[in-house]
Amino acid sequence: MKTQSITVPRLKQKKAKGEKISVLTAYDFPFAKLIDEAGMDIILVGDTLGIVVQGEESTLPVTMDQMVYHTQLVSRAAKRSLVVADMPFMSYQCSLEETLKNAGRLLKEGRAAAVKFEGGAHVCDRVEALSQVDIPVMAHIGLTPQSVHRMGGYKVQGREIDQAKALLGDAKDLESAGAFSIVLEGIPNALAAEITKALTIPTIGIGAGPHCDGQVLVMHDLLGLFTRFQPKFVRRYADLTTIAADAFARYQSDVLSGKFPTEEEGYQ
Ligand code: KIV
Repeated sequence: MKTQSITVPRLKQKKAKGEKISVLTAYDFPFAKLIDEAGMDIILVGDTLGIVVQGEESTLPVTMDQMVYHTQLVSRAAKRSLVVADMPFMSYQCSLEETLKNAGRLLKEGRAAAVKFEGGAHVCDRVEALSQVDIPVMAHIGLTPQSVHRMGGYKVQGREIDQAKALLGDAKDLESAGAFSIVLEGIPNALAAEITKALTIPTIGIGAGPHCDGQVLVMHDLLGLFTRFQPKFVRRYADLTTIAADAFARYQSDVLSGKFPTEEEGYQ
């Protein structure tokens, strides 16, 4: 039996029924296919692309063209999962017109079903404008990686009472502006629980504890493919770095020793 595709309204129903939402990032066709076949609700084409695929120090250098390209690769593989594409740094900060044009590209060219961008009350006009033209928006508050320089590093947000109140206010404003869900990144568990309770749209946590409506991880963290550092909230489900390094070493050794290829591995 064909499993039903995930839609934006379905995600809100999931929250209402108390069903958890699974989200994982992907950036290319083969991994997106595996993730889709595993039954993930959402595949996020994150701008973490800059760090885990491109080897940059932050997400800031990622461009719109790169996001469109990687969203195309992922969308081609996603049969069931909802594809959400990140809007990179400076693709929505300049003007409403630019925001609409860039979000539109991610749907028209990238074939995403929704976009995500970072920020609180100050981006609500963007959320409203996109919602009015039926581009669903996933919001993202807390530790917002595009604000790395303002935050002075990747630091947990919302520990102070004023900051926590502001984040709760941001979350409510984003819901009112039309966001269909909201990523809560790097905030205390109790604050994430409070925000989750206050909203009717699903919260998706990363480093925000177990009380969110769903969870997202970066695929390279989960697979042990990104090893430069490991945040506390990451659970490694595999060690593909060791598996790949071993395969590369054995291939290299077989080529040098003449064990690869054999006669049978060629054409007669
Ligand atoms: O870019 C990304 O992958 C993200 C997730 C970490 C939420 O924004």
